[in-house]
Amino acid sequence: MNPKAIITSALPYANGEIHLGHVASTYLPADVTTRFLRQKGVEAYYICASDDFGTPILIQSEKEGKTPEEYVEYWNKRDFEDFTALNIKFDFFYKTSSQENKQFVQDVFKKLEQADHIYENEIIQLYCNTDKKFLPDRYVIGTCPYCKADDQYSDLCEKCGRVPEEIENPHCSICGQPPTKEKTKHYFFKLKNFSNQLSEYLENNQNLQKDVKKYVQNWIKEGLTDWDITRDISWGIPIPVDEEKKKVFYGWFDNHLAYISSTIKFLNDNGKDGKKFWNDSDIYHFIGKDIVYHHYLFLPAMRLGIGEEYKLPDYIPTRGHLTLQSRKISKSRNWYIGLKDFLGIFPADYLRFYLISINPYSQDDLNFNWDEFATKINSELIGNLGNLINRALGFTLKSFDGVVPDPDAFDDMDKESEKMIKEFVTELSILMEKNHLDRALKMILQFSAHFNQYFQHKEPWKNGPGTNSCVFLSVNAVRSLAIAIYPFMPDSSQKIWVQLGLEGSVSAQMFDQISNITLNQGHKLGSVSPLFEKVEESVIDEQKSKLGDTN
Ligand code: MF3
Ligand code: ZN
Repeated sequence: MNPKAIITSALPYANGEIHLGHVASTYLPADVTTRFLRQKGVEAYYICASDDFGTPILIQSEKEGKTPEEYVEYWNKRDFEDFTALNIKFDFFYKTSSQENKQFVQDVFKKLEQADHIYENEIIQLYCNTDKKFLPDRYVIGTCPYCKADDQYSDLCEKCGRVPEEIENPHCSICGQPPTKEKTKHYFFKLKNFSNQLSEYLENNQNLQKDVKKYVQNWIKEGLTDWDITRDISWGIPIPVDEEKKKVFYGWFDNHLAYISSTIKFLNDNGKDGKKFWNDSDIYHFIGKDIVYHHYLFLPAMRLGIGEEYKLPDYIPTRGHLTLQSRKISKSRNWYIGLKDFLGIFPADYLRFYLISINPYSQDDLNFNWDEFATKINSELIGNLGNLINRALGFTLKSFDGVVPDPDAFDDMDKESEKMIKEFVTELSILMEKNHLDRALKMILQFSAHFNQYFQHKEPWKNGPGTNSCVFLSVNAVRSLAIAIYPFMPDSSQKIWVQLGLEGSVSAQMFDQISNITLNQGHKLGSVSPLFEKVEESVIDEQKSKLGDTN
C-alpha cells in the first residue's frame, strides 16, 4: 500500500444546499475511505472545495440580488457546516475562486498554450435577443445530437453522459425563445490530440472500474472533439491573453484544477512540499457517474498536456445516483431531503449506516426509501449490532461487576468464535481496499450476528460452565467491532470505545488491531448504556408526508 494518499470528492457547486443525493455517491464513500486508509497507517488527506464559477451560479446570484462573490461565500460556509454535521471530515475545504486557484489555472493555461495544445477559433454562439446575452451551457436546452434525448442542457446530456458538440433544436432556458447565432472568439483545448495517450492511461490503470473504462474507451474510439474552454460571461477566471477582458474560463476548465491547487496550498501551509507529496501519493477522485466524461477525459488530458507535472488519478471511484422513494430527486418538485434537515431529526451515524449499506461500488443507481431506512436501522443497526454490544457489555457489568473474567478452557464453539475475531480482518480489509464499502459493512454485521448467536447459545445468564469464556470473547468481539465500524460510524465507534473502558480515541487504532484479543482478565469496562434509539413509525410517516408538492 502506498503510504501517502490524497482523496478528493467532486466539488459541490456553491449553489444550493447539500442533499442526500450528493452525500451518497461521493462525499460519504470518500470520507469512509479516508478514515480507513488512516487506520491502515496511510498519511491520507481529504481535500475538497466549493465549485464557485459557472453560468447557473451567475443566474442565481442575479436573481437573488447578490454579487456572485457574496452568493458563493454563503454556500461555501453552509456546505462546510452541513458536511461537518455528518462527520464528513475534510482536512481542507477551499474554493475554486481562491487566489491560489486563479493563479494555478492561468499558469496551466499558459503551459498548455506553450505546448501547442490551445488554439483560438471564431465560433458561432447562440445569443438570446430577448435576454441580450450569449447563451452558454445551461442557458440552452435542446436535443442531444448523439442519443436524441430531449430536454437536455447544451453542456451535458443526462441520458447518455456525453458532452454534445452542438445541441439540436436549441431554446433559451430563461425565456424559452429560440436563440440567434452570433460570432465570438473562443479558445479550444485540443482534446483530440490526446486520444492515444488517454487510451493508454485507461488501459494501464488497473484500479479503474472496468465497466466505466469500457464506455470511456468507446467514446475515444468514436472520436473525441476539441473542447471549448471559454465563456462570454463575467463570472469566472479571466483568460490571461484576452485583451477585451470579456471572457472567462469555462467552469469545467478550472474546477478540477482546484483539486491540485487546494491540496498544494494545504500541504505547503502544513510545512510539506505539496507538489512532491502529490506526486508520491495515490490520488483518489470520488465522483458520481454524471461527471465521468470530465474526470476520465478532460482532467487526465489536461494533466498530460502539462507534461504530467502533477500525477494522473490512480482511482476514480464512480457511483450511481440516488433516487428518493424510487423517484428522481428534484428540488423544484420538493422531492429531495436536505442534509441539514435530515440531521435535525436523526443522528449522523444512522444516515451513514443506511447510505453505505445500499451503495454498491458500481454505476447502479441506489434508492433511498424511508421504510427501508427505518427497518435497517431498527433491525440491523439496533437489533443486531446495538443488541450485541448492549448485551455483552451489560451482562458483564451486571454479573461480573464490569470486570472481564478469566476464560475457561475453550470448547469448539469458543474456538470458532476466537478464530473469527482473529481472521475477520483479512477479508474485511480486502473489501475496504477494493472500495466495496457496502459489502464490508455487511461482513461486519455478519460478524456481529455470529456473536449474537454465540451469546444466545451459551446462555451465560445460567452461569454454567463456559460462562467466563463466553463473556471474555464477546467483550473482545465488541472491541473488534468498535474499530471495524470506525470508518462508517465514527461517533458510535468512539462511544463503544468509552463503554469498553478504553482510553484515547478509537481513531488512533490501527485496522489490524481488529484481530487482537487484548481485553484480558481484570480489565474494567466503563459505564454502559444503549447506543441507539429506535426509529419510530410516526416519525417516518411525518417525513414521508413532507415530500412532494407543497402547493
Ligand atoms: N461541481 C461539479 C458538479 O457538481 C463537480 C466538479 S468536480 C471537479 O457536477 F473536479 F471538476 F471540480
Ligand atoms: Zn445523449
